Amino acid sequence: MNKQAETVLNYHNRTKHSLERYAKGPESIDWEDQPDQFRRFSGCGIVALPKPGAELEPLFADLDNPETISAKPLNMANAGLLLELAFGLSAWKQYGPSRWALRCNPSSGNLHPTEAYLINTGNDFIEPGVYHYVSHDHSLEQRCRFSDNLPDAGILIGLSSIHWREAWKYGERAFRYCQHDIGHALGALRYAAATLGWTVELQAEWPDDDIGQLLGLDRDDFKKQEHESPDIICRIDTHTGGKLIDIKALLEAALSGDWFGKADSLRAYHMYKWPVIDEVSAAASKPRTEEPERQTVLHPLIKSSCTRTATQIIRQRRSAQQFDGKMPPLPQTDFYRMLAAVMPTTAAFELWRWPPKIHLFIFVHRVEGLAPGIYALPRDSDALEKLQAATLAEFDWQKISEALPLYHLHSGDCRQIAKTLSCHQPIASDSAFSLGMVAEFGETIEAAPWLYRRLFWECGLIGQVLYLEAEAAGIRGTGIGCYFDDSVHEILGIKGDKFQSLYHFTVGKPLEDKRLETLPAYGHLGDVV
Ligand SMILES: Cc1cc2nc3c(=O)[nH]c(=O)nc-3n(C[C@H](O)[C@H](O)[C@H](O)COP(=O)(O)O)c2cc1C
Repeated sequence: MNKQAETVLNYHNRTKHSLERYAKGPESIDWEDQPDQFRRFSGCGIVALPKPGAELEPLFADLDNPETISAKPLNMANAGLLLELAFGLSAWKQYGPSRWALRCNPSSGNLHPTEAYLINTGNDFIEPGVYHYVSHDHSLEQRCRFSDNLPDAGILIGLSSIHWREAWKYGERAFRYCQHDIGHALGALRYAAATLGWTVELQAEWPDDDIGQLLGLDRDDFKKQEHESPDIICRIDTHTGGKLIDIKALLEAALSGDWFGKADSLRAYHMYKWPVIDEVSAAASKPRTEEPERQTVLHPLIKSSCTRTATQIIRQRRSAQQFDGKMPPLPQTDFYRMLAAVMPTTAAFELWRWPPKIHLFIFVHRVEGLAPGIYALPRDSDALEKLQAATLAEFDWQKISEALPLYHLHSGDCRQIAKTLSCHQPIASDSAFSLGMVAEFGETIEAAPWLYRRLFWECGLIGQVLYLEAEAAGIRGTGIGCYFDDSVHEILGIKGDKFQSLYHFTVGKPLEDKRLETLPAYGHLGDVV
């Protein structure tokens, strides 16, 4: 095994939570000195985006068939909407003197390590260059003005992570959460783009170094521990005739462009250091690669009964903090629709160019017509036999649906097990169902260590689909990053590292916390935008 794969596997093993001990994290947290959730660069020109909150006509259910949504023109208003619906604020919450922002994309611990950039090539709606999105102000900071006149290849969106912002609270396990958050952000971007009639194309061949250079992350403009690591670059196809991106020309334009600004300090005192995060980040950095074109044919989905608009569903998405453990069973059609929506043959996964490597093991608690127990949803037919061989021999693997590869494994009340496995969190047991996302792991990492990150991105993407589908079904979801890794494997009978559970999720009827006040997302901007 090569050294990088070894580093990644060591990191993964040492950041497992177990019933006996949690992964290493800070012993104390100074809540008064949290890292600033909003990065800003001082010394850049600021471009205010048009007033956020505009409604668009497509229904959430229309997003199943994106080709039926007519493409909006690329202009400042629609570029702003793309950013708002993907990464913008969705509300403020207030409890006593504490006030915190929520966003359209979720984030472990609401720490938001993901930063988003917009790159304009040659379209005249904004000066060609690189812009950092400030979700708090719904504005763009111009980091770079391109020197060359590039042909109009439309816009790109780049994503990066400030690992330290997450590690401040979660210590060594934080690198995993940053990757989940990138997957969620990618999902959020896809739904935002589809609502505008646009498509997201992952520029999957690009190496991290090129993404870093284009976004200016390799520059000396950051406090050392607060640097950003490059993750993903996407081209947004606005279907208005832009050509494909010439990476070389783009990089040259960035390297010879005028750069502005320095990242403000995120303030919090750097009390703890987590060198394993830098180590795994280096070992899992992505080189230039050859990637396949997408091969999967899209299948029609079980129809959504949701009559709300896509913008409403996107802006109302929240994590449930508590579920009603006495909820009536979830209608089976809603359950099947949610599972169908995470299959790789749906529009939400059109940007995902690889065969799926993440499969679901579901703890059904309250679903109409289904015995409580454990079920499996292999997202790739090739994985079925491998999953059967890797899990408990007594699982019966009885296929229970014509439309879906959904298998019954074991009947029994799993509420207590689900709760215990998810770090004793009642959200995993009081819901309609909760689940573990099990990855084809060991061989994937040995083949290419940077795929470690992509496995988490795939989990985050699935999580984002579940979040929005839960809202569309009139209920709510919550991502669960805290679970006891090897206890999950033990319950399923998984031995060794061929398969590993990388993320959990839960869906049910939320209970509102009446003590919290909800304030409008952009009320603080007044009418000035
Ligand atoms: C990767 C990830 C892991 C999470 N893990 C947990 C968890 O273990 N327990 C929990 O109650 N919420 C968890 N959450 C939910 C976050 O706390 C929530 O997204 C954040 O507070 C922002 O709130 P919002 O989702 O309502 O916008 C997780 C979210 C993500 C994206």
